[in-house]
Amino acid sequence: MLKNKNIILGVCGSIAAYKSAFLVRLLVKAGANVKVILTPDGANFITPLTLATLSKNPVYTQYFEEETGVWSNHVELGLWADLIIIAPISANTLAKLSTGICDNLLTAVYLSAKCKVYVAPAMDLDMWKHESTQQNIQRITGFGNTVIAPGSGELASGLVGEGRMAEPEEIVRFLENAIKKSMPLFGKKAMVTAGPTYEAIDPVRFIGNHSSGKMGFAIADELVRLGADVTLVAGPTVNNGVESYKRIDVVSAEEMFKACSAIFETTDITVMCAAVADYRPKFVASQKIKKQDSDFVLELEKTTDILAALGMRKKGNQILVGFALETNDEENYAKGKLEKKNLDLIVLNSLNDKGAGFKSDTNKITIFNKALQKTVFEMKSKTEVAKDICKAILKILK
Ligand code: CTP
Repeated sequence: MLKNKNIILGVCGSIAAYKSAFLVRLLVKAGANVKVILTPDGANFITPLTLATLSKNPVYTQYFEEETGVWSNHVELGLWADLIIIAPISANTLAKLSTGICDNLLTAVYLSAKCKVYVAPAMDLDMWKHESTQQNIQRITGFGNTVIAPGSGELASGLVGEGRMAEPEEIVRFLENAIKKSMPLFGKKAMVTAGPTYEAIDPVRFIGNHSSGKMGFAIADELVRLGADVTLVAGPTVNNGVESYKRIDVVSAEEMFKACSAIFETTDITVMCAAVADYRPKFVASQKIKKQDSDFVLELEKTTDILAALGMRKKGNQILVGFALETNDEENYAKGKLEKKNLDLIVLNSLNDKGAGFKSDTNKITIFNKALQKTVFEMKSKTEVAKDICKAILKILK
């Protein structure tokens, strides 16, 4: 969730500032780019050197660093951030956020930023309970900021009660959940098929095709990026390394049909990208077939059209997306498959387009929706094509 996210961590004057060091470490470990802004009081509790070493970035403490002569642009910093977390936030900075007081770099960045802002308060029991603090909390929440509530326990003053800053692990979990919930496909289940199927002739031979599975992997990745819970049903393809989705490996069209059938009812979005064999040998020899003097004839029988079968079972708001790989009269064939297989979208690849189709890292597609409206796309990387396909899916969901 936090990978490659640009995060500004604001640290205010509180003994809980020591926990910021752990927080930076966890955020960096989760793959985030972290820049720390220390308020002048924050710098009394933890050194810029500690936070700079852990974040691998210079720490900002003021607009103008006299030693280096560097001017820190608060607007640029505010716009750089995908999210701001102020942990710990003191009663003082909370009051500034609530009233718009802008007297240091952190408060200026806060006012300049357009992203979500999270705050994790840390203060003594009575300061936390004070009506003015509670009103400030209400006000900043009303501005759209999110408060990560403090926990109870022994406080630095010796008092016991509410006011302890949430633990760094809790803060990271909170941020990850918040990001997850804000994703457009959060709570949706998706299934994607990818790759070829192999239909056995005998123990050493099969009928297959050149599909690499790359388009299906890219779609599965993009659906995960949008927050969906994704299962990939893959024919024989190389493992894609680190995969962010569940993967079910199958070999034949029949195995793919069974795997898809088992989970289709629970899916909201299904994208059938696999190049499924239309025919399989009618009889599979149990021993290797020996060469004869005469020609050899292989009898084939039809496999199940998985997409068409799922189209018949589709219910309610389930979205079903198919592919059509054509060499001639492309648009008519694609529109025919859209209607015949009861699809919501069909993605047309024409083998007449150079750089489209099997094995290449690029693709050129045309999408037809249910109303047979056509959108033509440029040649793009399969990652970008996956984004276009998922945007078309999001359009249906709106
Ligand atoms: N498909 C499927 N099961 C099959 C064959 C195809 O689920 N047995 C799916 C593919 O995953 C793709 C779509 O159907 O999403 C269209 O596949 P394609 O091979 O282009 O078309 P067919 O319907 O098989 O028709 P034809 O081969 O005659 O063009």
